[in-house]
Amino acid sequence: LDEDEVVGAEIAGKKIAVARTQGALFAFDNVCTHQYALLSDGFVEDGTIECPLHQGKFECATGKALCAPLTQGIAVYRVREDGGRVQVELP
Ligand code: FES
Repeated sequence: LDEDEVVGAEIAGKKIAVARTQGALFAFDNVCTHQYALLSDGFVEDGTIECPLHQGKFECATGKALCAPLTQGIAVYRVREDGGRVQVELP
């Protein structure tokens, strides 16, 4: 994952996105809270992920919804990099 890139993965039946931005890794729900769109098809910039469908933005670190049409944030997960592998901690 290069800077400002995002990938989607399915872990234990859950759709998760992992993004690298502002030099750090972040993991969060991959499905937008507005309608059905995969955030891993969106754009990462300055610590945010933009939904590809209606351009709603979430803060990668907190999952907070930053603008309309979003009214609800996404869940975020602890993530770490270990020897080139990315590990995500799910509840
Ligand atoms: Fe993501 Fe509408 S589906 S902003």
